[in-house]
Amino acid sequence: MSKPFFLLPILPLPILLLPLLLRSGAQAQQQPTTTTPTTAAGTTAGAASTPPAVTIPPAAMQMLNPIKPTPEGLAHAKLIYGYDCSMCHGDNGNGHGDLAAQMKLSLDDWTQPSSLQGKPDGELFYIISNGEGAMPAENGRAKTADLWNMVVLIRSFSKH
Ligand code: HEC
Repeated sequence: MSKPFFLLPILPLPILLLPLLLRSGAQAQQQPTTTTPTTAAGTTAGAASTPPAVTIPPAAMQMLNPIKPTPEGLAHAKLIYGYDCSMCHGDNGNGHGDLAAQMKLSLDDWTQPSSLQGKPDGELFYIISNGEGAMPAENGRAKTADLWNMVVLIRSFSKH
């Protein structure tokens, strides 16, 4: 008589797990569909025989920095830069971080004003957010306002 009562609390467990199992199955099914456009885009770029440059959407290029630079915002951006960026781009932005040397990356020297000339804020913001080539994406790790503050910080490296 005590047996069914003992089993009762365990019964809901598989029922609760079922939606989770179904969802991971659905995700696995979606994967081929999401990879198809990437392959198609790659083929198109190859056919046009252009170097595999990251295509930044025009709307992203035109984005204007929505934040007002403040000493606090800049200080916080600098803190994140120290954790996530300086190992490649260097403490002062000269592009000679330890990791960049290890990975044999040749990075722009942001202490030279010419290095970022012709690159609008929107482009820098997009690259910082999404990464580019060997560079990892920063969105999801830092807040949007911090990403914009990093754009301001990077431009400040050439102003001594
Ligand atoms: C693993 C090394 C690495 C790290 C870490 C890294 N970057 Fe980069 N970054 C690169 C490389 C490589 C490029 C050039 C990409 C290309 O042109 O293909 C680049 C390009 C850029 C650019 C575009 C302008 C330019 O000079 O080419 C910006 C802006 C930038 N990085 C900012 C950042 C910020 C901010 C962080 C930290 C959140 C960061 N990067 C972290 C390697 C890195």
